This record gives sequence, structure tokens and C-alpha cells, in this order.
Amino acid sequence: MSTFKILVTSQKGGVGKSTVSANLAAYLRRQGKSVTLIDFDTHGSSSTWLTRAPNIGVVVQHHILPLDQGGNRPILDARLHLRRAASSTEVVICDLTWTDSIAGELMFEYDLVIVPTSVSEIELAATSGFLSRHRWVFDSAIHTPPTLLVCPTRVQPEQLQSDVFSKQRFPVSFMLAPPVLEAQSAREMFERGYLMDLPDACGASFNEFGQAVCAAREMRESAHSMRQTTQARTTSPAARGAAVNRHNVLANSSTLSSQYSILGRHRMQKVRPEEMVNKSAPHMGAPESTQIASMGIPQFLKRMSMGVLNK
Ligand SMILES: Nc1ncnc2c1ncn2[C@@H]1O[C@H](COP(=O)(O)OP(=O)(O)OP(=O)(O)O)[C@@H](O)[C@H]1O
Ligand SMILES: [Mg+2]
Repeated sequence: MSTFKILVTSQKGGVGKSTVSANLAAYLRRQGKSVTLIDFDTHGSSSTWLTRAPNIGVVVQHHILPLDQGGNRPILDARLHLRRAASSTEVVICDLTWTDSIAGELMFEYDLVIVPTSVSEIELAATSGFLSRHRWVFDSAIHTPPTLLVCPTRVQPEQLQSDVFSKQRFPVSFMLAPPVLEAQSAREMFERGYLMDLPDACGASFNEFGQAVCAAREMRESAHSMRQTTQARTTSPAARGAAVNRHNVLANSSTLSSQYSILGRHRMQKVRPEEMVNKSAPHMGAPESTQIASMGIPQFLKRMSMGVLNK
């Protein structure tokens, strides 16, 4: 099985990239995967976290990209480190603050791009701008686009009471992860332990987020094996060419349908802006609950889109 490559990025500082990166690495390691974390940030927060916390077996690297050199250097360096790491591990997670000097093509190296964002207006606007500028990556019909997972982070209970993701503000096809809650306990875990072990709502929310990432992986792998099966069945070059074309078209629809089935199982749903309002998602039968940690997707979405939380 090929290495699953995850990029955790955003152009905004302080949204929780390093917290998500370090803790997701720990979460996946505990699921039995071999995991390498590559910290591309100068602060080195995620690598420091994993190096100083009780050893969980994640391989940690810290590389500074030559962002001031412009041109292709940053992307070439990043690609080199990523590919090297990928040759010896099942999962690679890269923690990177995006800047305009990084070529967007870098995202095609990844299977999953996680964009943490708080749900304050100012950060949502920044996230929306970032995703708009990279729409060509996530909606590409030429290359296989990475799966985009928008992760609401540092979310406070009262912030769930708005319909922030239903305002057609994200112009790309994306999946919405269950929110990771804001908590003092999360800040205190730095270098000491992992969010997944917190016995509070924040810990529960992080575990749901981890499950969502695993679901995204399953979904992508099933779409990939479906493509391979069809390709193996086509024999003549002409038929193969037609199949490749069909697959480029199908890439979106098959991914979409498998997202509905697999992610539905994990209570997550692929979201297009135009589908957000008045969309009846599958698995709507869950009983209403005021427990935030239990408000997974799509129940979470349903409530927001119906304005239930405003009442
Ligand atoms: N779920 C959370 N609850 C409470 N505090 C959090 C949570 N996630 C992150 N923080 C805090 O928010 C701050 C920024 O987090 P973090 O360093 O992970 O973000 P970042 O996006 O990597 O920042 P930078 O852009 O500086 O690299 C830190 O003080 C961190 O402890
Ligand atoms: Mg950071």
C-alpha cells in the first residue's frame, strides 16, 4: 500500500496547524501506522512537541524551506524531503505555513490537505481567500487533486451557534471535519502528552477528528483501487485512452459517491457550497444532543444549516 501523505497548512498563523499536525501524527501512530512528521516551520512547534512529549514512536524531522530564494527551490526541497520520508513510512504529515512564494503544484504531492481554521469571521475570510486561490488544485481535472479537509479548530461552544459554513463562502469542493474544541487542557498538553488522551470534550473532539482523517484515507484508497481495476480491464491503447478520460471525469463523481458511503459511515459528508443550505444529508436519524463532542458531521452541519443552534 502506498504512503498516505498529509499536508497540514494555512496561510494564517496561530490557527492550530502545529497542534493538529503533532497530535494527528500521534493519533495515527497509535492506530498502528508508521508515521513521519516533517515540520517545515521555522518555529519547530510540532517537531518540538513530539520530541519532548512521551515517546509514541513518530519519526520526527525538521527542515527549513528556502522560502526567500523564490523560484522552484522551496517546492523542490519540500518534494525531496517528502519523497524520502515516504519511502520508509506509511503516513507522512507535513506541518507548513503557506506563503505566496510556495508554488501551488506542491499540493499535488499530497493525498490529503488539511486546512485548520477557527470559525471567527476574520479567519474564515482568510481561509476562503486561500482556498479560492488554490481552487485550480482542488478542482483539477488534469492531475489527481488532493482531498481537501477543512478542519474547524479552537472552536468554542458559542461559536457553533452560527451558520458559518453555510454561507457559500468556500468556493471549492471540500469535506468538513468534526470541530476540534478550544480548551486550556489542549494548551497544557504541549510537550507533555496528546490531545487524544484528554478525558474532556476537547479530547473527544480530537478523536472524532482523527477518525475523520482515517475515513478520508479509506475513501481515497477505495477510489484509487476502483480506478486501477477499471484500467486493468481495458486492453487496447484506444480503450485505455478512453478509460483514462473517463476516469478523469469519474475521479470527481466516483470520489463523491464513495465519500458519501464511507464518510457517511463516519458521519462526515463532502460539501459543496451550493449544497450546504437545505441539503438533506444521509444519516439524519441521530437524536438531538447538546453535547458538542457528539455533534459530528453531518448532524453538526444539519443543525447549522437549519439554524437549529440559533434557537
Ligand atoms: N484546541 C485548542 N485549544 C486551545 N488552544 C489551542 C488549540 N489548538 C491550538 N491552540 C493554541 O493556539 C496557539 C496556536 O496553535 P499552533 O501553534 O498549533 O498554531 P499554528 O497554526 O501552528 O501557529 P503558527 O502559525 O505560529 O505556526 C497555541 O498557543 C496553541 O496552544
Ligand atoms: Mg505552527
